[in-house]
Amino acid sequence: MKNRTLAILKPDCTRKQLVGKVISHIQGAGFKILGLKMVRLNNESAKGFYEVHKERPFFNDLIKYMTSGPCVPIVLEKENAVEEFRRLIGATDPAKADEGTIRKLYAENIQENIVHGSDSDENAEKEIAHFFSRKELLEINGWK
Ligand code: CMP
Repeated sequence: MKNRTLAILKPDCTRKQLVGKVISHIQGAGFKILGLKMVRLNNESAKGFYEVHKERPFFNDLIKYMTSGPCVPIVLEKENAVEEFRRLIGATDPAKADEGTIRKLYAENIQENIVHGSDSDENAEKEIAHFFSRKELLEINGWK
């Protein structure tokens, strides 16, 4: 079944002028774009998005990084979108990511890892709602 996932091209991706290359990689893997925008997260929005990590030792650094420049959230559609997208981007730590994955190709380290991908269908829907209203998105199968 086709479903949706949320990608975020993170501030290291925009800073390194890699937005086009990463989107090209994503589209080349057969994902359809249902919505896309560029935003600068403020503290409140970044903390809300990463709420699940608020007790982790890296939380403050993560918020600093995610608010350090523009991000590009993208809603993607594909069969098994969540799982397929996580396979495409590779492990959180680029040193452990498979060859050919986006993080292996472009990421510096476990924090500055170029791109976010939702980790479950349920979280994907929550994360999509963090950035997009329904009116801003194509429906699934809306690309015909
Ligand atoms: P992401 O997939 O967006 O989920 C949480 C983010 O926290 C992760 O990518 C990294 O950008 C950042 N992060 C920093 N340090 C760690 C760590 N040790 N483990 C997991 N995520 C980390």
